[in-house]
Amino acid sequence: MKRGQFITFEGTEGVGKSTQLNKAAEALRTAGVEVIVTREPGGTPMAESIRELLLAPRDEPVHELTELLLMFAARAQHLHTRILPALEKGQWVLCDRFTDATFAYQGGGRGVAKERIAQLESLVQGDIRPDHVIVLDAPVEIGMARARHRGDLDRFEQETVAFFERIRTTYLERAGDSPERYHLIDASAPLAEVSEQVTGFIRGLVNASH
Ligand code: TMP
Repeated sequence: MKRGQFITFEGTEGVGKSTQLNKAAEALRTAGVEVIVTREPGGTPMAESIRELLLAPRDEPVHELTELLLMFAARAQHLHTRILPALEKGQWVLCDRFTDATFAYQGGGRGVAKERIAQLESLVQGDIRPDHVIVLDAPVEIGMARARHRGDLDRFEQETVAFFERIRTTYLERAGDSPERYHLIDASAPLAEVSEQVTGFIRGLVNASH
């Protein structure tokens, strides 16, 4: 059985990741590919409980290491009990965020050293990395305005513009460092254009995998 492809979607808040991920899933199903759609933090009942812990606004200051370890605790559960078994069955996995988000949010945003994040990445993932990372990029203000429209803000959405600027910069740096694995898309373009770029890229992957 040919292993499925592991594709992640990344970006700052409100860039339209979920919409684009669903379009990509539709394009894959139309092409006859079996696909699962999932997200981080979360993706299994236990990892979703960890997500609730992470996103809940709280008065108690959250230490950056607590946040980092909870992200990887959720990831260990999700990767080993859901993502890898699906890939081994030949299913493709589309995941809304993965470890690039940790480098961007906990690294760029909170200032945790990237070497420290890389240590946990090796511990939890070994040498497993997404086959392709789709980075949806848009000016921070556009996304923040969209997130605010959705209602109550979670613990991350309450952060400052400067925090999200550092996150955006980290994503752009990572995409620039490994252009063979990162696919950067301008998410400030009209929705139909962004969808066309995403689904075009996905269809290209399907053709290449035959
Ligand atoms: P979402 O709003 O895209 O579902 O993501 C939940 C929040 O968790 C979002 O603000 C980004 C944050 N996050 C991190 O800080 N580090 C991570 O490793 C992941 C996966 C998400």
